Amino acid sequence: MSSQVESLQVLARARELVASCTGFRDTAISPTAVDRVVRAELARGRSPSELMAEMQRPNAPLARALLDAVLVGETYFFRHPEQFRFLAAEVVPSALRRGSLHLRGWSAGCASGEETYSIAACLLNTVTPGVTVEVLGTDLHEGRLEYARRGVYGNWSRREAGPLLYPLYQEVADGRVSVIDSVRAVTRFAQTNLLEPLAEMYGQFDVIFCRNVLTYFSQDAVTAALGHLARALVPGGHILLGTVEVDHPPEGLVRVGPPELQAFRRPLPNAPPPPRPTPPPEPPKVVRAPPAPPEPPKPPPSPIRLHTDALQRIEGGDEAGAAHTLEALLEQFRDYLPGMLELALLRERAGSREAAFALMHSVRDSAARLPPDQIIEGPEPLPARFYRASADAFLTLGSIE
Ligand SMILES: C[S@@+](CC[C@H](N)C(=O)[O-])C[C@H]1O[C@@H](n2cnc3c(N)ncnc32)[C@H](O)[C@@H]1O
Repeated sequence: MSSQVESLQVLARARELVASCTGFRDTAISPTAVDRVVRAELARGRSPSELMAEMQRPNAPLARALLDAVLVGETYFFRHPEQFRFLAAEVVPSALRRGSLHLRGWSAGCASGEETYSIAACLLNTVTPGVTVEVLGTDLHEGRLEYARRGVYGNWSRREAGPLLYPLYQEVADGRVSVIDSVRAVTRFAQTNLLEPLAEMYGQFDVIFCRNVLTYFSQDAVTAALGHLARALVPGGHILLGTVEVDHPPEGLVRVGPPELQAFRRPLPNAPPPPRPTPPPEPPKVVRAPPAPPEPPKPPPSPIRLHTDALQRIEGGDEAGAAHTLEALLEQFRDYLPGMLELALLRERAGSREAAFALMHSVRDSAARLPPDQIIEGPEPLPARFYRASADAFLTLGSIE
């Protein structure tokens, strides 16, 4: 066999190896990167058959070199800032409402760690006192994880497109910055492949960021990775994906907010089922039935029923309809805290900041008048202190911005 044919076989095998290890589709694997690695090995005097044999072992140095060459590590602090604003305004209050006292975040495909530290800084600055935070960053590329653990970055990690939303680093020498101790203290990094069952390894998270990673994956790999990630969310937890990575909610999750936000939530187990289609009308009866006894008067709708109806509308993507239902609810039940909070979050998402703030002030003031441990009935019964903590978190964030 000619050496040229053998080299081509090595290149083809190298691409297969990269695809099976990363989940990348063939067209996302840089031919020049693979070519460079293979040619460098051949130039060192290694034979094509030696390289073929080494590629039987996915953990061998050649496989590592191939992965390092093709994995794209582009990232910077507070990339896509709107998703960090959503984390602060929606995800954290929602976790506090669920009663979470220890918030766990995960940056899946974190590259050199800028995203992981940004999540940690955001969580630390938006949880209420007494709530603790932990953030995990994982990637397939061990070299980038080592860089992440050092926590020292240059200008390329601080771009104008990513505003410094929360304190995260301090200047050191030569224009470089070092991640501050409070943020480092809650952050750790580990090497992980997103094609592996991850919930079993790391437990469950309140929020997962997996951005600009799946964009390189084949459809099968996207489905597998999203399945693992969805299972690693606590019920009620959120996942944020990159802007063009999926065009419909991953299985078992529901979209939250506008499509461009790419935010999805794992529903709570007691979340209402999606509305059923109305059954077809019964055929007319031939035999006239005796007149039915008058129906007992219906009980007036309870705030929880109306709230549940609003939640169904939100899950179905009808946020305007949900807002109307909540407005009607609050006309009747002015002090219903869960409804006030829900409407405030809807107003914020619809861009009506002033209305959201006014409602959040009412939530905080009403909650402050109640004993902190008093349980407030709603779709989820929660103590008054959680309403106060959620409103505090929201209002504090507003004053920071
Ligand atoms: C472009 S970076 C994204 C960094 C960050 N998430 C952001 O959006 O700024 C993509 C990262 O995904 C990692 N990656 C690719 N395939 C992976 C896999 N199968 N398992 C884990 N990480 C993977 C790459 O090593 C790379 O560091």
